[in-house]
Amino acid sequence: MGGMELEKGMKLIDENGRRIDGRRPDELRPIKIEAGVLKRAEGSAYVEWGNNKVLAAVYGPREAHPRHNQKAERAIVQCRYNMAPFSVTDRKRPGPDRRSNEISKVIAEAFSNVIFLEQFPRTAVGVYIEVLQADAGTRCAGITAGSVALADAGIPMKDLVVAVASGKVGGVVCLDLNKEEDNFGEADVPMGVAPRTGDLVLLQMDGHLTAAEFDQAMKYSMNAANQIYELQRDALRRRYAVSLEDLKVEMQREAPPPAEEEPKYDVYYDAQPGVQE
Ligand code: CDP
Repeated sequence: MGGMELEKGMKLIDENGRRIDGRRPDELRPIKIEAGVLKRAEGSAYVEWGNNKVLAAVYGPREAHPRHNQKAERAIVQCRYNMAPFSVTDRKRPGPDRRSNEISKVIAEAFSNVIFLEQFPRTAVGVYIEVLQADAGTRCAGITAGSVALADAGIPMKDLVVAVASGKVGGVVCLDLNKEEDNFGEADVPMGVAPRTGDLVLLQMDGHLTAAEFDQAMKYSMNAANQIYELQRDALRRRYAVSLEDLKVEMQREAPPPAEEEPKYDVYYDAQPGVQE
């Protein structure tokens, strides 16, 4: 699947230690994040991460339905991770499946760790993640987009969540596997972290790593998480800067037009006590 077809046993790491897309083991794919891309949702974000394209939208906190889902002392987080039929090479059958249910569940749990849920009893915060184009690492791209969308919606949180995966391909521990590496590699470890506290809010492992390889993978991921965190904060800053610009335009529009002739007033100076004019 994907743009490049690989045969089993094909070299994933070349003689110079480069990966099939030219990256070094510790290199991320290019990442772009934009906040506030949808008008109707309360919060939204769009992420391009290598060949992944992911959209996230947030609603809430709103009264949770059905009511038996409500928690008397806190909000619940509802997440729907969905892949568009056209997001993968073999058209994906629309609707939920085992994989998307699992991913929705782990993402909801990741966000539950950072949102101040006890501030909104009986409500639900809804996070909708739509994968438009998939190239491995969509759950990480989805979480990264989702947490920017949550911040854009003004949901109080301890921190943003950043997610990134590391794994092993051709016997080498590598950061941020692409589709071919994910398909033909030996292991993939997606993780989610709240960088300010260092709390791990998601950790999964597909395949096998030795303890030393796992440590190396986590080092790569933690380091990359800090880079991605900066991109998330940048996206939110840009979003906020745009609103300030809009506000300025709005204020100028509302200011009364300058008078054609300056009204003339007599100007009085109050004499200071004891001072002779
Ligand atoms: O996307 P992520 O790495 O979080 O999850 P995965 O289950 O490890 O899937 C890896 C990749 O396989 C996805 O990103 C898609 O590119 C691809 N995939 C697919 O082509 N068709 C599916 N039905 C599911 C996944």
